[in-house]
Amino acid sequence: TDRYAVFGNPIAHSQSPWIHARFAEATGQELSYERQLVALDGFAAAVQQFFAEGGRGLNITVPFKEQAWLLCGSRSPAAESAGAVNTLQWTDGRLHGDNTDGIGLRRDIKNNLGQAIQGRRILILGAGGAVRGVLRPLLEAQPAALTIANRTVAKAQALTAGLTRFCPVDACGFSDCAGRQFDIVINGTSSGLQGEMPALPEQLFVRDSSLAYDMVYGREATPFMRWAATQGAGAVSDGLGMLVEQAAESFRLWRGVRPATAEVMAGLRSRLA
Ligand code: ATR
Repeated sequence: TDRYAVFGNPIAHSQSPWIHARFAEATGQELSYERQLVALDGFAAAVQQFFAEGGRGLNITVPFKEQAWLLCGSRSPAAESAGAVNTLQWTDGRLHGDNTDGIGLRRDIKNNLGQAIQGRRILILGAGGAVRGVLRPLLEAQPAALTIANRTVAKAQALTAGLTRFCPVDACGFSDCAGRQFDIVINGTSSGLQGEMPALPEQLFVRDSSLAYDMVYGREATPFMRWAATQGAGAVSDGLGMLVEQAAESFRLWRGVRPATAEVMAGLRSRLA
């Protein structure tokens, strides 16, 4: 049986084994997929051991995505610009790294939520690893313009380097967004984990048409999602679909077949309930 796993720390709550087991069933592929808690100082050794023992592919999650990037002998363009890798495989005698988070986000917005990206004004909140990981695939979908807003403005500014060839990209603080409107607002900060949301001005959304998207997911709506609903956003979503779509893209890279995602998303939603 072909072996796959997800490496992280912590890892106990990872839904990836469940998601990939559904994909394997649905596509008739025989494989195993486990979660592995990796010591904070033991990542490179664990990766080496996994592939030396014949493992076929890994997903990498917090806090190892940047370390995974460093280990790779080759990388996809998305991984290259993300500076982070969430999907590893051993091909042509070297470790190849990919990053499927951005494609997952793009597919969730376009295919599952039915919202165009092309030609629309995007505001993305945050400038950490989560945001850097998704920028390039978002830009490749040709938005009209992309604004990166962050509490620490200098970090947002640093992210814009090399990205302006896709569309106009600017960086600012949250309060600088006052008086501007956006068609898609994506929360990529970790503020929700503290039960908070970014200190945003009012009237960012085009009433009844803008999409508010939080990259995290959970049983309940995040503070950002609740706020967006009161601000008149036309659609509000958490990041559960992104999680399933990034997994589907990893599965496709490993197995050459793209699994359907709708039923897995619904199943995961009811598992959380
Ligand atoms: P991740 O890998 O999840 O992106 P990170 O690199 O630590 O984690 O980045 C966290 C992001 O959430 C940053 O953009 C951070 O803002 P700063 O760069 O100013 O630190 C943002 N963030 C965290 N808590 C926040 C809060 N309470 N309000 C607003 N932004 C917050």
